[in-house]
Amino acid sequence: MQYRPLGKWGAKLSAVGLGSYLTIGFKLDEEQSWETVKTAYDLGINFFDTADAYNLGEGERVIGKCLRQFPRHTYFLITKVHAPMGPEPNNRGLSKKHIFEGCQASLQRLGLDYVDLYMCHRPDPDTPLEETVSAMEDLIRAGKILYWGVSEWPAEMMVEANAIARQLGARPIAVNEPRYSLLYRYPERSVFPTCGREGIGNVIFSGLAHGMLTGKYRPGEPIPAGTRGASDDTNKVLNALYMNEDNKTRSQQFVQLAADLGTNAAALALAWCLRRTEVTSTIIGATRSEQIRENVNAVDLQLSDDVLQQLDKLFPMPQFGL
Ligand SMILES: NC(=O)c1ccc[n+]([C@@H]2O[C@H](COP(=O)([O-])OP(=O)(O)OC[C@H]3O[C@@H](n4cnc5c(N)ncnc54)[C@H](OP(=O)(O)O)[C@@H]3O)[C@@H](O)[C@H]2O)c1
Repeated sequence: MQYRPLGKWGAKLSAVGLGSYLTIGFKLDEEQSWETVKTAYDLGINFFDTADAYNLGEGERVIGKCLRQFPRHTYFLITKVHAPMGPEPNNRGLSKKHIFEGCQASLQRLGLDYVDLYMCHRPDPDTPLEETVSAMEDLIRAGKILYWGVSEWPAEMMVEANAIARQLGARPIAVNEPRYSLLYRYPERSVFPTCGREGIGNVIFSGLAHGMLTGKYRPGEPIPAGTRGASDDTNKVLNALYMNEDNKTRSQQFVQLAADLGTNAAALALAWCLRRTEVTSTIIGATRSEQIRENVNAVDLQLSDDVLQQLDKLFPMPQFGL
């Protein structure tokens, strides 16, 4: 395994991390969840990602139960706040009230005294940035969290939050969690360069485009049973962002390119994300241990300029959008 710094900060995260959206505490029962967490840990993965909203707290409960089997200093855990956790007006968003109460509730479900990094899952236009920044600082001072971060925030909002942090004498954003893959290259435009300047690390999600880049969805063929694409409980984002004949066709060419390089498509897709110096880690989802074993091969892959050019041609940066 390779360990990379959290932006300009001191903590080191494995270049592949294990997430829990739609898998741990949802599609996987407790035993299957434990198997994936244990496999990841044994392969050297020290970084795990969850959120309060994953199956309304069940993701946190199950991943917390698994991680408590390991010494606390051997893993780094992110959880998140923002999504509605109930119908009440204050049970959502990034107000000081919800950040404080949300953190308490997450710690309780996880069975931990502190989380390594607490993350704003999305921006909250109804709360001033100053309130959110100072709420995170208060949690750091209270020993409930060590670092704080954001997910899918625009570049200019991260810059503004860090400027506010400097004014308040508060800790700035340590990490950003953007969607990033060969099929979703937008962070290259302004998010990565901004993070590079601000010393913010990036732990990217959906580097396999929900499985599309593994080549399992083939043009003209039915969706394979048991996959994320096969169930209405799990396929909404996959269908909205990636499930089309063009992506299926290109993913077959991608599988062939990976085979020509002597590797598998999943490892190649993640290695491509890891080529960026602004990327600390790629967070994978996995429904079977075998997938994790395949995916960690990414850390040993060096991509030549020739391969990068072929990938640019197959998956060009979109001209417009975001
Ligand atoms: N911050 C955010 O807003 C946000 C949003 C989304 C995700 N995340 C985090 O990022 C993590 C990863 O996201 P993701 O699940 O969308 O990532 P992904 O890695 O793009 O997709 C994971 C899915 O692809 C399939 N897969 C994985 N490895 C494979 C392999 N080697 N061969 C074939 N299929 C394979 C599995 O689905 P099947 O086996 O079911 O087909 C797996 O559940 C999440 O768990 C979560 O922690 C964060």
